[in-house]
Amino acid sequence: MSQTQFIGLFPIPVVRVSGLLDEDLIQSIVARTDATQQKEINAYSEGLSHSPIKGTDGDDLLARVGDLVMPSVVQFGEVLFGEALNWQIKEIWSNVLETGGRQAVHTHANSFISGVVYLTASHPSANIVFHKSLGGTDYIFSNHNKNAAVNAYNGSKWAMPEIVPGDLVLFPSYLLHEVPVNKGPRRMSVAFNAIPDRLDNLGYSVRFS
Ligand SMILES: [Fe+2]
Repeated sequence: MSQTQFIGLFPIPVVRVSGLLDEDLIQSIVARTDATQQKEINAYSEGLSHSPIKGTDGDDLLARVGDLVMPSVVQFGEVLFGEALNWQIKEIWSNVLETGGRQAVHTHANSFISGVVYLTASHPSANIVFHKSLGGTDYIFSNHNKNAAVNAYNGSKWAMPEIVPGDLVLFPSYLLHEVPVNKGPRRMSVAFNAIPDRLDNLGYSVRFS
């Protein structure tokens, strides 16, 4: 009896941790973001703003978020690099996405693990979308049409199915992602970038700070 086995080579990990932030912490960050936080408008969408991008020093609320996400960051890093490394939150900020706002496709430079913690529900239209590739300078062939079934091998993008306040999503910082136009109410989140203190490749090591 023959057996056919499909093997997914070199998959990209994306993690969702549900219910990481409790309601008190969520409401504290939401209240501050609404009331007092300095906002910077996104370059591509007036409906998207964020707080200044900085470390957790001197910010008790974001430091608490950093502490809560760290075990998941270390676990995710162990998947990426095969070792439980010493990670730090390099920068962290809060986002406000108004109705009609969007976030253009981008990656996070100078970082290894990026994450988003959701402070509100996300309307399905504004769930984060990950892209496999936007193409380069080579011609591309594909077979995307109404008769073709999309699967993990031929698909070019993937949207997070559901987001609940308090959820954490982690992804490698090189992974292209976007937030399409928000057709729902205001959506708020905290995003961050994390780096390990070192990587060692058979003695060729590099340190980060
Ligand atoms: Fe991002």
